Amino acid sequence: MDFQFTEEQLAVQAAARDFAQSELWAGVIERDEHQKFPAEQVKKMGELGFLGMMVSPEYGGGGMDTVSYVLAMEEISKVDASCSVIMSVNNSLVCWGLEKYGTEEQKQKYLTKLTTGEQIGAFCLSEPEAGSDATMQRTTAEDKGDYYLLNGTKNWITNGSSASVYLVIAQTNPELKHRGINAFIVEKGAPGFVIGPKENKLGIRGSDTHSLMFTDVKVPKENRIGEDGFGFKFAMSVLAGGRIGIAAQALGIASGSLELSLKYAKERKAFGVEIAKHQAIQFKLADMATNIDAARLLCLQAAHDKDQHLDYAKSGAMAKLFASKVAMDSAVEAVQIHGGYGFVKEFHVERFMRDAKITQIYEGTSEIQKIVISREILK
Ligand code: CAA
Ligand code: FAD
Repeated sequence: MDFQFTEEQLAVQAAARDFAQSELWAGVIERDEHQKFPAEQVKKMGELGFLGMMVSPEYGGGGMDTVSYVLAMEEISKVDASCSVIMSVNNSLVCWGLEKYGTEEQKQKYLTKLTTGEQIGAFCLSEPEAGSDATMQRTTAEDKGDYYLLNGTKNWITNGSSASVYLVIAQTNPELKHRGINAFIVEKGAPGFVIGPKENKLGIRGSDTHSLMFTDVKVPKENRIGEDGFGFKFAMSVLAGGRIGIAAQALGIASGSLELSLKYAKERKAFGVEIAKHQAIQFKLADMATNIDAARLLCLQAAHDKDQHLDYAKSGAMAKLFASKVAMDSAVEAVQIHGGYGFVKEFHVERFMRDAKITQIYEGTSEIQKIVISREILK
């Protein structure tokens, strides 16, 4: 592995840092407080090319590598993890899935708008009774000849009300178990497609999470992704890459926590000196920095594996498992370093602590990452 970033990768990192520092800090507390979707900021992310980073320029994407994507995700997550989950779902679940497995017509019709931010996408796998055990799909897609009839409920869908394009996983042939599952492109506004109320969440409150209800929704056959029965493999394949994005999100929350802690520790005085002079604080900072560097290396290893067309299911799962723990631990320590000020909104670290938790839950809980990793190493 080359430990030196290319000029292009450094330029992407700098652009993401500039954008996050200049456009995301302002209003982030208010967006969190009021669960306000960052519509303007997402539009800007589209204009800057952060919504279709890895897609080929032929479809309006940036044609960048996964390493650049990780660097950008880290910078944006250092400031606003709500923006970065919107970015992650659009890039690594929706756009990547469509470019890799969609037909040329699907790419022309949907991908070209998703890469520019003209539209954003959602990925709909989870259900009230199918979370970690994703094969237990109760949403059905009955084959009616030239269309499918979609019925069921999806839960916890990121970009739930703000998306225009939804990739929906559903069961067509229950006797075939997971091999009977299909993936479909469903447009917002399709008759029978209803968006439930917004969830009131602990963290990433700027992102909109909704349940979705489908009642006799007609989905044209040309909107199926891949061969009949490919839907579960589609979901697993897309999630393997998605986990690298969430790992990078966790990394950003952790490094954002460290940056604010370093600054605060040099400003705040107790017992006549800056608290950074107390060894207890120094050791916390040292542990945070060490864990963050290790998490960054795992993220970059997984990105490198993906870019080199190596198997990245294990390295992506390891990156997510480790980085999400580092995010949680670092954010908790950041609150501690800030003392009482860490417990109020103005200092941001309480938000990081709330945002960090979700990285251990979505795109496969930490327990699920351990299942993926152990299966790979026991092969
Ligand atoms: N790529 C392609 N195919 C894969 C794959 C991969 N990485 N991993 C597994 N598969 C295939 C297998 O080959 C197998 O196919 P065949 O039987 O045809 O050979 C099929 O998928 C089933 O695999 P398993 O037997 O391993 O399935 P399982 O039932 O044991 O489940 C699991 C495995 C890893 C636990 C899986 O169910 C899982 O990942 N669960 C977590 C679900 C999840 O991550 N949800 C996230 C929702 S999206 C989200 O959360 C977005 C967000 O928040 C922002
Ligand atoms: P469960 O599967 O019920 O798990 C409960 C607990 O049991 C967990 O600790 C889990 O790790 C553990 N557990 C389960 N099975 C095992 C096992 N075999 N071994 C050990 N432990 C186990 N989903 C989407 O499809 N699209 C989205 O855009 C999306 N966005 C989300 C956004 C938010 C804010 C949230 C909260 C969730 C989102 N999800 C999304 C859903 C998310 O992926 C699921 O919540 C997650 O996969 C876990 O499923 P579950 O909540 O049903 O928990």
